[in-house]
Amino acid sequence: MPQNGEFFVELMFSEVSSRKCIFAFLILVMINSEKDFIPSSYDFPKVSGTVKWEAPSNIALVKYWGKKEKQIPANPSVSFTLSESKTITEVIFSRKEHTNSFSFDFSFEGQPKPDFHPKIEQFFHRIELYLPFLKAYHFTIHSHNTFPHSSGIASSASAMAALSLCLMDIERKFTEISDELFYKKASFLARLGSGSACRSIQGTPIVWGEHSAIAQSSDLYGVSLDFEIHENFKNYQDTILLVDVGQKQVSSTVGHDLMHNHPFAQKRFEQAHQNLSDILEVFKSGDYQMFVNIVEGEALTLHAMMMTSNPYFILMKPNTLEIINRIWKFRELTKIPVCFTLDAGANVHVLYPDNYKNEVLSFIKNELAVFCHNGQFITDQTGAGAHKIH
Ligand code: PMV
Repeated sequence: MPQNGEFFVELMFSEVSSRKCIFAFLILVMINSEKDFIPSSYDFPKVSGTVKWEAPSNIALVKYWGKKEKQIPANPSVSFTLSESKTITEVIFSRKEHTNSFSFDFSFEGQPKPDFHPKIEQFFHRIELYLPFLKAYHFTIHSHNTFPHSSGIASSASAMAALSLCLMDIERKFTEISDELFYKKASFLARLGSGSACRSIQGTPIVWGEHSAIAQSSDLYGVSLDFEIHENFKNYQDTILLVDVGQKQVSSTVGHDLMHNHPFAQKRFEQAHQNLSDILEVFKSGDYQMFVNIVEGEALTLHAMMMTSNPYFILMKPNTLEIINRIWKFRELTKIPVCFTLDAGANVHVLYPDNYKNEVLSFIKNELAVFCHNGQFITDQTGAGAHKIH
């Protein structure tokens, strides 16, 4: 039976007299509101158990910057899911007596981290309506990242995605959930933890936010594209150059807020829709030149938005600019379609096709590593999304 609000395609075949006729009935039920993620009631059995998931980070090509109430994005975005930079989270759950408050312990890289408690508590409050078992169990949460701690890489996307998948896996023990609903709801929950985390559940590329050319797109969760991307973008490389490893100068929350009353906000949101339309064509055609143009333009626009908000910020460092100029020179000289993108910080993601890996890696080691903090960079590539660990 179709599940509540789930996108469901049921094919029914029937045979009429001696002629074999096949009738295909398509029953489409869309998830189109938050309410569709509220489960019908189920019991909270006196059980305990352990679940473990790993979820990757992701890098946006068309950026999400600016949001409305409840983590709804002001514009649609698209990202590559990564494969090596990930969070691994284990959740041990056990039924408790009282069900009037949340109860959990959290450790990160083997150390108890009470300073993370408020963030998790806030996340639990936001998702309680959709996971009614949350106050009935005690959770012991162990988490670690595969990338260096304090590397300046935002870990909230992979962390929120891994935790959401663990919680969905626990819910799946109490009630039946199809795979499709499981992953959509995990993405939906992750979004409530950290917006871009909803793009860290499934394999690459992932679109989040409603867009007229993508029928399945939603503001509530990330979706895969319904066509095969050009082979030029398979195993796309992302080498992350760690220019600045300190605390973020501007938190995402503050940054997104700066888009309210921003003089260029409306034009920027329109541009993101157009860039997403254009990059869809690029994913089909394999056009590297267009890819480079859209991706670098998006990175610089994101930073331009920060430079022109009030208060204003410059999040790039001198070494960020030095790296960008060297990438441009190298591209001009070699004609290799290598490009950069930036998050809301000084680190540089160097993006390039798999078949130029050797040339670009030598260039990075010989010319760019010197501009990184302690010469550090992380080699990564596009990946297939999160996995359960047995
Ligand atoms: O998910 P948040 O709230 O940390 O925002 C992330 C915003 C950017 O990384 C700058 C862009 C994006 O789309 O990932």
